[in-house]
Amino acid sequence: MKLKPLKLGNRTISVPIFQGGMAVRVSMAPLAAAVADCGGAGTIAGTGMSTQELKEEIRKARSLTKGVIGVNVLFAIGNFADLVKTAINEKIDFVVSGAGFSRDMFIWGKEAGVPIIPIVSSAKLAKISEKMGAAAVVVEGKEAGGHLGTDRSVKEILPEVRKVVKLPVIAAGGIVESKDIGEMLRLGADGVQIATRFVLSEECTVSPKFKDHYLKAKKEDVILINSPVGLPGRALRSPFTEKLSREEKVDIEKCNKCLKVCSRDFCILDALKKAREGDMERGLIFSGKYVYKIKDILPVREIMKNLIEGLDSIRG
Ligand SMILES: Cc1cc2nc3c(=O)[nH]c(=O)nc-3n(C[C@H](O)[C@H](O)[C@H](O)COP(=O)(O)O)c2cc1C
Repeated sequence: MKLKPLKLGNRTISVPIFQGGMAVRVSMAPLAAAVADCGGAGTIAGTGMSTQELKEEIRKARSLTKGVIGVNVLFAIGNFADLVKTAINEKIDFVVSGAGFSRDMFIWGKEAGVPIIPIVSSAKLAKISEKMGAAAVVVEGKEAGGHLGTDRSVKEILPEVRKVVKLPVIAAGGIVESKDIGEMLRLGADGVQIATRFVLSEECTVSPKFKDHYLKAKKEDVILINSPVGLPGRALRSPFTEKLSREEKVDIEKCNKCLKVCSRDFCILDALKKAREGDMERGLIFSGKYVYKIKDILPVREIMKNLIEGLDSIRG
């Protein structure tokens, strides 16, 4: 089987493997650029950054590759509009957004000619997205890491979406091997979005302790937490999640009012940032459902090569 090149605005993604945006500062310029350099689409996670930081990160990625680079911003974040507009002003190749739905972003994208890709978990929202001018949709199932918009598998949702929209459909959630990509193509996907596999790459700039937690994860360590965003989040069991499950209070050191709406159970940005920096006691480690299938840290080029060559040997 083969992934066919995908046209997005005035760019062509020769191998439509999107590296999923991962906040806070998990998917940064080096990772995004490495994926883009292999013909995929790299994504910088803007959530949790200031507009200045995002601008610098985009410029850094541009200095590393001529490939296709996008930015992912969670709708739930307070500075959503500023971050998306910053990415658009930097002439980013595409913007992806999930955890809520912004109608405005389609207008901003259209004005500037920047493709907008919402993350959806239902055929209904995919259809609305198409009407509003989305360039593509990411269809994400419960297998994904981070905030989840559904408790249904991508394998169930994808065929439903395929039936009702003509635009390119990118499948996300639980894709770690070539055979997973093959399955998504059979179900009607035009491309895939992969995140967890790329955390275990040499180019991902999280602390080695974060990667170690991934490498040691067993099936039973992958759990769901209630995020202050108001959605469940898929993460790895850790001292922090144990504390949450005992319903112990987690102090909010300093509230920056970063979310539009927050349950104030704990500070999500702070917990994600701590994990990224290697504080495995107080950090929250987001991860996809099938992290335990990944056994090695590889250069992005090798991850991409393995995925593509493996797919070549699968009969369509
Ligand atoms: C550490 C981590 C952080 C994530 N952060 C974000 C994010 O900021 N915005 C977003 O839309 N999705 C986020 N996701 C979801 C991914 O972009 C992706 O769609 C999903 O994890 C795909 O499933 P996989 O990890 O099994 O490949 C995150 C996932 C992980 C593992």
